[in-house]
Amino acid sequence: MNFLGLTNPDYSNTYLNRRGFSFSMATARACGKIILFGEHAVVYAKPGIAVPVKRSYSLVTVSAADAFSYTTDFEISSSEAKRLESAFDIIFDRLDVKEKKFSMEIESNINPGTGMGSSASLAVAAIRALSGFLKIEKTEEQVNDIAFECEKIFHGNPSGLDNTVITYEKPVFFRKSSFEFLTLKKQFYLIIANTGLKSSTKEMVSTVRKNYDSDTVRYGKIIDEIGDISFKAKELLENGDIKTAGRLMTRNHELLGMLGVSTIELDALVQKALRAGAYGAKLAGSGGGGNIIAICERSQKDYVFEKLKGSSKEAFITLVS
Ligand code: PMV
Repeated sequence: MNFLGLTNPDYSNTYLNRRGFSFSMATARACGKIILFGEHAVVYAKPGIAVPVKRSYSLVTVSAADAFSYTTDFEISSSEAKRLESAFDIIFDRLDVKEKKFSMEIESNINPGTGMGSSASLAVAAIRALSGFLKIEKTEEQVNDIAFECEKIFHGNPSGLDNTVITYEKPVFFRKSSFEFLTLKKQFYLIIANTGLKSSTKEMVSTVRKNYDSDTVRYGKIIDEIGDISFKAKELLENGDIKTAGRLMTRNHELLGMLGVSTIELDALVQKALRAGAYGAKLAGSGGGGNIIAICERSQKDYVFEKLKGSSKEAFITLVS
């Protein structure tokens, strides 16, 4: 992968080719994300907390061409390609594209289906790169809005949490399609460890919906408790109490298990993280596979990382500040 070593995420430029004709291109990058608290409950209008993960990102380059085409540096199935093309149509429509005389090169180091926000990241990078190429000014709010429309294509009934944290690249407390930025009093570390199993957000969201419809009282209580945890966790993070936030994180994982979205592999990684001394751990994202996160202080992070690295497909440490 060639990420061009960009320090500035967005740029657009006009170049001269060998015959001296000018051509233009624009590139934009968007980060990945991880959900600290509240996934699934956010779909039921409860709050959730998510943070950007900058080492994971998508990069989209738009270049002048005779007709529209696109490439991806990752494999996509024909149904994923269809969804991607439908998302492009939304972007073209919202950016009022008249003539599609450009090509798109899509690169990403975000594993899809692992709860890192690959689709929202791709949408945000594509919207920004194309606006740069067309020299159209779009506010962050407009980018977020279009990315949300794309997320509906990818996930059916998204809460809007992914596109929001990715557009603004800041920790957010999200509720009922409105949000506020979260100021963390104290930085902390997350170990993100991947089970190696992929899952579909759309399917996991519909699993929870089926469970909820089958016993609204029981599942409603679980969702309410997750919502309460997000409210408390917001306060704890704003006050720098990482230890208590960790305990709530582990409880959040148990509740996600009760909703029917954890797996043996996710539970095993969570247990491993806790035994290694993490303050708390949980699955992150829609579940059914994907990642767990473990919250740590600086002094704990390397040991927890080593333990998780040995039992997961891939693990890394990220600083949240
Ligand atoms: O895309 P993921 O796997 O990070 O999951 C999204 C989080 C959900 O709450 C499960 C769905 C949503 O739209 O918020």
